Amino acid sequence: TQHLLAPQDLTGETVLVTAGPTREELDPMRFLSNHSSGKMGYAIARAAADRGARVRLVAGPTALSTPRGVELRQVVSAREMHAAVMDLASDCSIVVKAAAVADYRPACRQDQKIKKGGESTLSLELQRNPDILAELGQLQGERFLVGFAAETEQLLENARRKLQDKNLDLIVANDLTAEGAGFAGDTNVVRLIYRNGDVEDLPQMSKDQLAHSLLDRIRSRLHGKEE
Ligand code: CTP
Ligand code: CA
Repeated sequence: TQHLLAPQDLTGETVLVTAGPTREELDPMRFLSNHSSGKMGYAIARAAADRGARVRLVAGPTALSTPRGVELRQVVSAREMHAAVMDLASDCSIVVKAAAVADYRPACRQDQKIKKGGESTLSLELQRNPDILAELGQLQGERFLVGFAAETEQLLENARRKLQDKNLDLIVANDLTAEGAGFAGDTNVVRLIYRNGDVEDLPQMSKDQLAHSLLDRIRSRLHGKEE
């Protein structure tokens, strides 16, 4: 019933959301990944669709079902997510990058299962993945760009640097050590940092409520950007 109650205030907007972790394969049975559940990104996609936006969701592997009215593009690796996002971003007015993208992948994926040898240690060589959000920040065109910053220390400084380096309009700073915050749960506690330097602390709330709060703020700043 949520969609019947939601204001249709994002009608006419096309929103691209990324969600979930990426998986970087080592061999046919193993991968590197992270604890992202995808819940935050899915909540944003669902809320935007309920408010009348056209929504494209690019998601890594999660256990979640696709929200009604959302166009889902499933990906596995960071490089696949990069290709999908670049394919879809150009005609979107809002991009929200909630995905926890792996910064590195194994430098080479083995075709056969890696066997343990006689050594007691094993080193993996890793290769940097493309920074999808930084690349979006350099794209031409008017687009409201929202990033997430997952931090375990120096939340404000680190998030501010990401906002500047990636040329974002808004960054959602997530203190992974805070009570009620983080990947697995249904609630989150965030600090919002805007391009103009404004900082806003939001109280702990459900990921669904946070999704709507974020969309309220994006919507009210969206058209201010062009002025
Ligand atoms: N991001 C991305 N592509 C990557 C890495 C990150 O698009 N290869 C995006 C994430 O989706 C998130 C934002 O960049 O919206 C910040 O991600 P985060 O991991 O917090 O920051 P990094 O820039 O990767 O820096 P670090 O992990 O070193 O803190
Ligand atoms: Ca990272």
